[in-house]
Amino acid sequence: MSHTTSLNVDYNYSIVRLFTLTTVFWGIIGMTVGVLIAAQLYWPALNFDTPWLTYSRLRPLHTSAVIFAFGTSALFATSYYVVQRTSQVRLFAEKLALFTFWGWQAVIVSAVVTLPMGLTSTKEYAELEWPIDILILLVWVSYAIVFFGTLAKRKVSHIYVANWFFGGFILTVAALHVVNSMAIPISAFKSYSIYAGAVDAMIQWWYGHNAVGFLLTAGFLGMMYYFVPKQAGRPVYSYRLSIVHFWALIALYIWAGPHHLHYTALPDWTQSLGMVMSVVLFVPSWGGMINGIMTLSGAWHKLKTDPILRFLIVSLSFYGMSTFEGPMMAIKSVNALSHYTDWTVGHVHSGALGWVAMISIGAIYHLIPVLYKQGRMYSISLINTHFWLHTIGVVLYIVAMWISGITQGMMWRAVNTDGTLTYSFVQSLEASKPFYLMRFIGGVFVVVGMLLMAYNVYKTVRAKDESLQPVPVAA
Ligand code: HEM
Ligand code: HEM
Repeated sequence: MSHTTSLNVDYNYSIVRLFTLTTVFWGIIGMTVGVLIAAQLYWPALNFDTPWLTYSRLRPLHTSAVIFAFGTSALFATSYYVVQRTSQVRLFAEKLALFTFWGWQAVIVSAVVTLPMGLTSTKEYAELEWPIDILILLVWVSYAIVFFGTLAKRKVSHIYVANWFFGGFILTVAALHVVNSMAIPISAFKSYSIYAGAVDAMIQWWYGHNAVGFLLTAGFLGMMYYFVPKQAGRPVYSYRLSIVHFWALIALYIWAGPHHLHYTALPDWTQSLGMVMSVVLFVPSWGGMINGIMTLSGAWHKLKTDPILRFLIVSLSFYGMSTFEGPMMAIKSVNALSHYTDWTVGHVHSGALGWVAMISIGAIYHLIPVLYKQGRMYSISLINTHFWLHTIGVVLYIVAMWISGITQGMMWRAVNTDGTLTYSFVQSLEASKPFYLMRFIGGVFVVVGMLLMAYNVYKTVRAKDESLQPVPVAA
């Protein structure tokens, strides 16, 4: 279906709707698998001695589902929406855009089937086997054609900064995927990487870290630069800063991968370079975070009445927190404590659940009424409840992992005067156990919030045309 706006542009919203609804659906699935594996770490019997329910198979299913099904669908939805609105043209190559939707769903379903079967390339965040990798590439090239084709036929001369972030993310992910997935197939579902040893590790973490930097960060910053100003009803705090933010971020991120490989066989100078680049990365990350939050200056009172804005702004606080923590963990001596512990998992989720999920949820609550011609979501108080459930859930999760992680790190390095280890590994597991329960409870909070969201979205989508009127907002 097409929509004509006050600018008389007939936008293609149907593709945005498809991706928006699937974001909510895959969010629930991916996070529920997260809750299940969190439960398995506390109650190991929950794998029921069934191979496809084992932790090792479900963990990559969780990461693939939340990053590639939930997060990437949110990026498809918002980038297709933003590029049309800010270019004031209808989407380029619409059939190809539809192919990106069905092609991407096919990728996700293949992951849902093959990962529990134990078919894996074993590369973290790139576990899918080679035939699926080829499908990913086809979808991604089509995505680039649709996105850049739309930009090329734009009616405004300026390219709005959100599109720079989306564009940077699309191009870089294509390069990462192609280079890291290079493999020699030996059968329909088994291949071996063309890289070996330290080179393989380096390529893998060049990919892994930039999946964080470009997919989980740059793409969502594109989202931030459109939806925060829109929801706040104010222009970006400093447009100049947003451009500096973009170039500084992409220039630095690409070098930081070796911080995942401290004290390994990787040449020492590469580790040090990765560490320095990661520490410097703090500056543009915080520049961007401050730019987003300050967009609210003069309109802070809106946070009291608008839970959607609260989702967006609190997501930026988590972004600030994880991009302070990350550079710190990249320092070799800190990493000596944090690596292999739950501290890393806590850092991941303050970025993933705090930043990525909250900015996406905020953007979706903004989008759904526009896409379905309503003045607002069906229930504002349900959004508010969702906000609190999610925030409490994330805080429970990351606090649990901080305590557990630092405890593990300290216990592993404690030595007696005669040089023997003070604690056995099992003792450190026992110390972590209560915090696994706490993380599980946090995860349940988050998933309950997502279910409320699904209900709210359903009621908004099913409401009669324009029956939901905007709520008058106190001045
Ligand atoms: C209800 C919400 C969630 C729960 C309960 C949850 C739970 C978990 C658990 C238990 C692990 C395994 C940790 C380990 O091996 O020690 C994990 C890993 C991971 N999760 Fe989640 N998760 C949730 C949401 C998310 C979301 C929304 C994202 C991304 C957008 C995400 C990204 C990841 C990543 C990247 C890892 C791997 C971390 C690493 O290797 O260090 N999770 N999650
Ligand atoms: C300035 C920004 C950041 C820096 C310098 C940084 C740095 C780090 C460091 C040092 C680690 C631990 C590596 C290890 O010991 O194995 C790590 C892990 C990780 N970070 Fe960040 N981080 C940043 C921001 C973020 C954000 C915003 C997210 C998510 C949205 C994120 C997601 C992850 C993930 C998924 C891992 C775990 C990778 C794995 O081992 O599987 N990071 N990061």
